[in-house]
Amino acid sequence: MQTTITRLYPPSEKDYPLQGLYLEHGLHKMGRPGRPFVYSNFIASLDGRISVAGTGRSSLEVPKAAANSRDWRLYQELAGQADVLVSSGRFFRQSAAGEAQDTLPVGKEDAFSDILEWRRQHKLPEQPAVAIISGSLDIPLAVLDTYRTRPLMVITGDQAPPERVSELRDGGIEIIFAGSEQNVDGQAMIEALDERGYRSIYAVAGPGVFRTLIEARVLGRLYLTLTHQLLAGMTFNTLTQGASLVPALGMQLLTLYHDTHAPEGASQWFSCFEPR
Ligand SMILES: NC(=O)c1ccc[n+]([C@@H]2O[C@H](COP(=O)([O-])OP(=O)(O)OC[C@H]3O[C@@H](n4cnc5c(N)ncnc54)[C@H](OP(=O)(O)O)[C@@H]3O)[C@@H](O)[C@H]2O)c1
Repeated sequence: MQTTITRLYPPSEKDYPLQGLYLEHGLHKMGRPGRPFVYSNFIASLDGRISVAGTGRSSLEVPKAAANSRDWRLYQELAGQADVLVSSGRFFRQSAAGEAQDTLPVGKEDAFSDILEWRRQHKLPEQPAVAIISGSLDIPLAVLDTYRTRPLMVITGDQAPPERVSELRDGGIEIIFAGSEQNVDGQAMIEALDERGYRSIYAVAGPGVFRTLIEARVLGRLYLTLTHQLLAGMTFNTLTQGASLVPALGMQLLTLYHDTHAPEGASQWFSCFEPR
């Protein structure tokens, strides 16, 4: 992690250490009551793949060729500044099937102990809370046990299956209703999290949750790692899904860093955008 990266935008002559790059953004201080700060993060290839089919799996996975420890470090730094992580019902089904990439951050490995220390110094709880968006409420209770040391809630719509609501409640899980249908309304979800005092909200799920956020126009910032690779493949996810956004959501570049040390055989850009 000692090797440095180059800032391309705003242009800069000096090189920067990777470690600490995103911790300096102070995301935990950017929200305020009534207006929490919502951010998300993806790693994508030049041809737009964020996840691809893998052999022996029933769900898609982050492309192995793209995933790398330098990007993972920044993903953990973003989590270090969160009050709450927003994940998806599908992630927990992947976890139950042994197909999830990892447990939710902040990682307990030595490599991330400085991030946990950073949280202590900034008077944040040891770990961010976890909010799970799900319309089906098909969430295996056993996999939630890993997270019961943190505040844990499931966010769903008013028309969610009532028997599943009861099962989760009986299992000690808080259910938050946000939206008049089975699916969650992004605006109502962010309001519900705000009411519970969460000001720094980090979406760590995929295109479904990201779509929910951009459709509701509640996204404050997108961190995008673009690996300089072409992956192709027939089955894949990109950042977004669903009907065209009209008008398109214009994004403005805040920072862009060039990293020549990963992934293997390529390089990558760490970019950060805000809606205009
Ligand atoms: N490259 C990257 O940076 C990156 C990052 C994240 C994920 N990924 C990949 O993307 C793939 C998909 O990940 P994911 O399943 O976590 O992402 P997702 O597409 O955001 O999650 C979809 C699930 O979230 C729930 N959901 C989303 N929006 C909802 C809404 N408005 N109302 C109700 N429920 C809603 C649904 O759960 P229910 O089905 O339970 O109703 C839905 O099945 C995975 O293969 C993952 O590896 C890649």
